[in-house]
Amino acid sequence: QDLSHDTRARDGIYDLGSRAETWRHFWHPVATLDELREAKPGGRGPLQSTLLGEKVGIAEIDGKIVAFEDRCPHRGVALTLGWAEDEGLRCRYHGWCFDNTGKATEIPSLPPGATLPARARLKQYDCEVRYDLIWVRLDSSLDTQIPDFPGWDDESMHCIMGEPYLWACSSGRRMENFMDVTHFPFAHQGTLGAPPNTVFPVYPVDQADRRLTWKTETFLAANPGSDTYGPPTHPDSVMIPPARYVIEMPFSITLMFTWTETFATQIFMHATPIDGITCRSYWFTCHTVDDSADEVHLQLQDMVLGEDLPVVVTHEPARIGEPNEEISVLPDKPMILWRRWIRELDIAARRGPEELQAALDQVAIESEEAGV
Ligand code: FES
Ligand code: CO
Repeated sequence: QDLSHDTRARDGIYDLGSRAETWRHFWHPVATLDELREAKPGGRGPLQSTLLGEKVGIAEIDGKIVAFEDRCPHRGVALTLGWAEDEGLRCRYHGWCFDNTGKATEIPSLPPGATLPARARLKQYDCEVRYDLIWVRLDSSLDTQIPDFPGWDDESMHCIMGEPYLWACSSGRRMENFMDVTHFPFAHQGTLGAPPNTVFPVYPVDQADRRLTWKTETFLAANPGSDTYGPPTHPDSVMIPPARYVIEMPFSITLMFTWTETFATQIFMHATPIDGITCRSYWFTCHTVDDSADEVHLQLQDMVLGEDLPVVVTHEPARIGEPNEEISVLPDKPMILWRRWIRELDIAARRGPEELQAALDQVAIESEEAGV
């Protein structure tokens, strides 16, 4: 699969006028482990991906998966056109070879034993494999962590990775679509909801630990088509059970449903910013281990995503604009708080990493469960 996406917006502007520089401090998945394995014969890459408007190369070199600026220091061509060899990553143009620290180890046009220029090294980025995804952080000047995904480490849960999807909207538009319940009765009519069940309570939202968290109560959704999915069902309605939303700033979300005392489901999603108006979502659907087929769970997600996509790609503008450009109502609360925090993070980042750290660590608890 070709992950080398042409950026549609080269102005470096993201949601609410924020800058790529702010989001470079955070970890984002750039490929699945399988995508790296399948990119080239031998399974070591290299593979090109796009993150925050930058071409990023990924390869396994000498047993280590590394991420690097996809630009050969010799003449600036894409290194991902080259080969991952036993000796290192070799450029297709003049065959320079680089080890997994980025250092050039071979310049074939020089005689054996010649001293190699010290500046002949690749610009590398922080890179880690977690949840079978390859995570990259472009700027290491701030201590940020790979987002939490509780289902992954929970032995009672079975986690299924979905096919990542590229959408023509910003990461922010994707995030808001995910955290918004008031679109269920309309965009997901018959799937997750339907009129007349259109009124939703405004829940307390906690801001702590770099996360926004809230809980939603059971609500009735007329849903004749969902008999195959999750108890409890009824011939013409299904209850969407109590859920817990966890947004890990800026672009990760975990949604946890408690269907019964013994059955839970969980969805994890990270909306990686390709550029300001394009995102690629990496996601999992998890459920308490049972004998259901993976297909059942993937099909439900496919159906829901198929209902969201045609709507979400029509946002005008494709990224969230200035704070007062759109009209919000009280049940839009999670999205309002998320927008406010995104803006605060970007403003703080312009003043430096310490300010960004402080903006990230701010706390505001509305629920009774302080410190959730
Ligand atoms: Fe890569 Fe010359 S451009 S070796
Ligand atoms: Co939706």
